[in-house]
Amino acid sequence: MGNLTICDHPLIQHKLTYIRDKDTNTKDFRELVDEVATLMAYEITRDLPLETVTVHTPVTSAQSKVVSGRMLGLVPILRAGLGMVDGMLKLIPSAKVGHIGLFRNPDTLEPVEYYVNLPSDATQRLLIVIDPMLATGGSACAAIEALKSRGCQQIKLMCLIAAPEGVEVVQKAHPDVDIYLAALDEKLNDHGYIVPGLGDAGDRMFGTK
Ligand code: PRP
Ligand code: URA
Repeated sequence: MGNLTICDHPLIQHKLTYIRDKDTNTKDFRELVDEVATLMAYEITRDLPLETVTVHTPVTSAQSKVVSGRMLGLVPILRAGLGMVDGMLKLIPSAKVGHIGLFRNPDTLEPVEYYVNLPSDATQRLLIVIDPMLATGGSACAAIEALKSRGCQQIKLMCLIAAPEGVEVVQKAHPDVDIYLAALDEKLNDHGYIVPGLGDAGDRMFGTK
């Protein structure tokens, strides 16, 4: 079973409260999501391997650590995942970015794929699938399957908020994928929305509807 990590740093919890607030406007929503993505990037990169190099300080030479060149890829699920990319790139600027376009059919809640574009060396990279919302888990599973069917094997999933139902679906289907969340919420409602959640992430991010 993949690990489930809740990134519950006080600053993340604080910002998430305002992200949830229905009176937070589009500009502030975007900025807060961007900031939380940066804070979560710190946690999700915690296990990156290090190597030792020699550094010449003004005083002496010393052995010191650098990240050992593990190649990363960010794969936002369109649309809402886009809002977390820049925040992550602030900490890992050399990551490449792929895109997977999916939307939920509002009646069946099944994901519909409309776009996949990955870095040419995606199979060599640790890929982080990004989506603010993990509700039924259908979109996350479809994105992970789209990556695996193209030969990608090292995959993590990062979301702001999840319902327990969605976490279970992803863990069952993809036990090799570690999941990182800012919060694990209570449940899904009859329309497949996360409760308490934040509403429709894409609409709030882009000011649609
Ligand atoms: C939302 C969200 C996820 C998906 C989660 O996207 O950003 O991708 O729903 O739901 P699931 O776990 O039940 O699949 P939506 O379909 O609203 O598309 P959008 O980002 O283009 O608005
Ligand atoms: N997608 C969203 O944007 N919000 C939810 O609560 C569930 C799916």
